[in-house]
Amino acid sequence: MNSKKNSNLKLSTAQSFLRWAGSKKQILPTLEKFWSPSTHKRYVEPFAGSACLFFRLKPDRGMLGDINKDLIATYLEIKYRLDELVEELGKLKKGREHYLSVRGLDTSILTASQRAARFIYLNRFCFNGLYRTNSKGQFNVPYGGERSGDIPSIETLRKCSSILKSAKLVAGDFNKILEMVEPGDFVYLDPPYSVEARRVFKQYNAAVFGDDDLRRLRSWLTKLANHNIDFLVSYADCEEADRLRRGFYYRTINVRRNIAGFTDSRQLSKEIIISSRPIRSVIL
Ligand SMILES: C[S@@+](CC[C@H](N)C(=O)[O-])C[C@H]1O[C@@H](n2cnc3c(N)ncnc32)[C@H](O)[C@@H]1O
Repeated sequence: MNSKKNSNLKLSTAQSFLRWAGSKKQILPTLEKFWSPSTHKRYVEPFAGSACLFFRLKPDRGMLGDINKDLIATYLEIKYRLDELVEELGKLKKGREHYLSVRGLDTSILTASQRAARFIYLNRFCFNGLYRTNSKGQFNVPYGGERSGDIPSIETLRKCSSILKSAKLVAGDFNKILEMVEPGDFVYLDPPYSVEARRVFKQYNAAVFGDDDLRRLRSWLTKLANHNIDFLVSYADCEEADRLRRGFYYRTINVRRNIAGFTDSRQLSKEIIISSRPIRSVIL
């Protein structure tokens, strides 16, 4: 397969090739209204996760960041070495036993393509698209593969690869990517729910996002607004969100979510979107 042949696929939109705890897939129709290709020069997402809004919008220029280094390394393999990655993915078989043996591999002896294939494979068949590691940094999410479908198709991977060609990828804290923001950028921020919000929403997530992170995020929102840079935040509608939204435009929206990852216990929860621009002018 030659991934270069497929740059024409960029015209059609793509779904992310990842499942991700806290993914905003359900509210994409609302979120996408805030992006204006005629006025925004670049799309920036410092908490990328599965980057489902990015793949939906397929911006001409983008910058994606995440503190999860394995995630960003996987995006780099999809972007630059898709053929090798697809070959490695083809070697991985479905099933609990195979999942446990792939999960137990010593990643230090794997090539970059093998590591990325393993990441995609584990993401697909683990419980609820969670990413969690033990104290040694080893992925330890249990098998959940009975209901999680198949490894992403080659077509999906090619589309994602093509869309990623226009994006700079940054591994690290959100501060690192926000330092690089310029006038004309559109910044979409979807941080993990902090400890209290997670308690309210019964969600859990590997990354610990605390009070100090929320304070740093709030001060970045003020900076972006002072420089007339458009931003959009999505967050749980809870007390902590009050601190983030103060002085900005916001709206609460209903989202149907799995509680603690069990699809048979879906519940309606409220989330909030916070914007630097009046929301009424975006959503009619
Ligand atoms: C709620 S998820 C983003 C989900 C994404 N919007 C989607 O639809 O898939 C939050 C992401 O922030 C990342 N993260 C956590 N702490 C971070 C930090 N300090 N800086 C940058 N990324 C961070 C996590 O690894 C996770 O992928």
